[in-house]
Amino acid sequence: MTDRIGVLFVCLGNICRSPIAEGVFLHLARERGVSERFRVDSAGTGHWHVGNPPDPRARAVARRHGVELVGTARLVDPASDFAEQVAGGFHWLVGMDLSNVSRLLRLGAPPGRVRLLRSFGSDNPTDRDALLEVPDPYSSSDDGFEEVFHMIHESCERLLDRMTRER
Ligand code: 4NP
Repeated sequence: MTDRIGVLFVCLGNICRSPIAEGVFLHLARERGVSERFRVDSAGTGHWHVGNPPDPRARAVARRHGVELVGTARLVDPASDFAEQVAGGFHWLVGMDLSNVSRLLRLGAPPGRVRLLRSFGSDNPTDRDALLEVPDPYSSSDDGFEEVFHMIHESCERLLDRMTRER
C-alpha cells in the first residue's frame, strides 16, 4: 500500500543494526496499534552478507527483549528505495552512523529524506545527541550488542512518537 509511511533502516552489513531497528520499530508500532500506518524494511550498503539472516548475536539480543528479527540481508537499491513513496520508495531513509548517511547521499538519496537514527533521540536540532551514531557492533562482544539494542530501542520510540504526532 502506497499510503503507508515507508521507513528504510540502513547500516553497513544489514545483519546487525538495521535488522534490529526494523524489528524494534515494528514491535513498538504493533504495541501501539499503529503498525498498519507503516511499511518498514532494512538494507545495507555493503554486499558481504547479502542473502544471510541477521547475525545470531543480533537475533539473541532482540529475542531477550521479546523481538523476533526477520528477513535476509539485501543491498540498498537506489532506483526503488529512493523513489517517491507513491512509486514504492521509502519516505524516510534512516542510517545508523554517519558513514551510512554519507553513503546514502553519495548513492543519490534525496537529502531531505535522509536521517541519522539517533537524531530522533532529541527534539532539539542543536542538541549534540542528534549527531550521535549507533556504533557498528559486528566486532564487539555480546555487551556491545546489548548497548546497541538499547540505543536503537530508545531512538525507535522517539521516531515513532514523531511519526505518529505528524499524522
Ligand atoms: P551492521 O554490522 O552494519 O550493523 O550489519 C556489520 C556487519 C558486518 C560487517 C560490518 C558491520 N562486515 O564488515 O562484514
